[in-house]
Amino acid sequence: QVPDGCAFVIFGVTGDLTHRLVIPALYNLAEAGLLPEKFCVVGVTRKEMASDDLRESLLQGLRKYATRPVDDKVADQLLYCVTAISADPSEPDSFDRLRERLEKLEANRNTGGNRLFYLATPPDAFAPIATELGRAGLLEETSGAWRRLVVEKPFGTDLASAKALNDHLLGIISEHELYRIDHYLGKETVQNILVLRFSNGMFEPIWNREHIDHIQITVEEKLGVGHRGSFYDKTGALRDMVPNHLFQLLSLVAMEPPAHFNAHAVRSAKADVLAAIQIQSEDEALRNSVRGQYTSGRIGDSEIPDYRSAKDVEPDSTTETFAALKLSIDNWRWAGVPFYLRTGKALSGKRTEVAIKFKQAPFSMFRCTPVRELSQNYLVIGIEPVEGISLQFNTKVPGPVIAIDGVEMTFKYKDYFKVAPSNGYETLLHDCMIGDNILFQRADGVEAGWRVVQPFLDAWKKAGAHGLQIYRAGSEGPEDADELLTRDGRDWRKLG
Ligand code: BG6
Repeated sequence: QVPDGCAFVIFGVTGDLTHRLVIPALYNLAEAGLLPEKFCVVGVTRKEMASDDLRESLLQGLRKYATRPVDDKVADQLLYCVTAISADPSEPDSFDRLRERLEKLEANRNTGGNRLFYLATPPDAFAPIATELGRAGLLEETSGAWRRLVVEKPFGTDLASAKALNDHLLGIISEHELYRIDHYLGKETVQNILVLRFSNGMFEPIWNREHIDHIQITVEEKLGVGHRGSFYDKTGALRDMVPNHLFQLLSLVAMEPPAHFNAHAVRSAKADVLAAIQIQSEDEALRNSVRGQYTSGRIGDSEIPDYRSAKDVEPDSTTETFAALKLSIDNWRWAGVPFYLRTGKALSGKRTEVAIKFKQAPFSMFRCTPVRELSQNYLVIGIEPVEGISLQFNTKVPGPVIAIDGVEMTFKYKDYFKVAPSNGYETLLHDCMIGDNILFQRADGVEAGWRVVQPFLDAWKKAGAHGLQIYRAGSEGPEDADELLTRDGRDWRKLG
């Protein structure tokens, strides 16, 4: 579907996110013929900037970050749509000037007055920009033209700030016009969880506590904190990854089947399951979690320095770069099935996956049968490095004597579908333009996520350095993370 004509207004246009992801994704949409014909991109800068300079900078970013070879003609057409306009929320008049210039541009480009405001800015700018957009009348719907506001993560830093931000934004724009981005929902395999579960007859009957022993959600990264110290040291692994990316995975895996495939039904089912996660006391949170911080180590050929020596990180920082949690969902489907979540930086591998561990078969029949390696009966939804699904099961070793070995059956996206490489933002930006918010977070879902995480934040803050495990960069994380499962008689899937 080609979206209606619109103005795509980017705040934070000179920043990394715009250059690395937004413009390359718009380029991919342009190449696929999925941008409106009547279209303009307005790059909002704090200081005056010539449109030609902005175009040149975006072109350089595109050449660096494009996921496909850049066709100059397509790039020129896209960049021709770009105009730089300056506005700064601390100077309200500048938003009135932005409105006047935008109206002229809209008339020139015949965009029909539809406007999408994309806030690719640091999070503390969301509220002031939205306030000024509202005050200057830029968000008022006129003669059928739509207005949409897109905000990046992180959405709040805890439950109270997420609620306050929701209240603030929803005082200016309505929920259906607000698009809270989580880039995990742009990933094919993440969207495929819905299709896998609800378009096949064989999974749903066994997708419950009768048959599933537990679920592991892993997002492990090789990279350290790099140049993001000033953001990361205030944030930590839990805030950065869990209430957003990991909870998106959890909610898609654990939600009840929605009656319809539309934004209301799907987002309600996701919010319901997040609201059913047991809220732990601070003591329980401490017992059911592990946090770690990396020290120097080697990953492949690179030497990773100690986290505390990274730029803009406090030398005595107690910020976690690794977090593991055990959660329970208090509903009929999942009672008694633990959900183990882990995420960390500077680990031995880059892996993102959801592993569903089925209960073992009653083994009495094969009690005396030789076993080479017993399969753990995992269904693994792989997001990185390989997008696909694999199922592990036991089989007979060929030969006259009965013996058992575990094997794996794997589907890889790239073997079946020829897809042009993308950065995951294409679907999300396209959905914003066509007005489909199925892949965006709703206020209740965001708050339900923070409610679960809050006791962990509070307990860890009180504990300070006490209980923070140090792990070597390039390892599999703190040893206590293993203990979180071994005490329940379980193990993490090893990093492959
Ligand atoms: C971002 C976090 O939201 O997600 C980063 O801020 C993290 O710290 C990144 O590295 C991980 O995304 P992906 O797509 O590489 O798993």
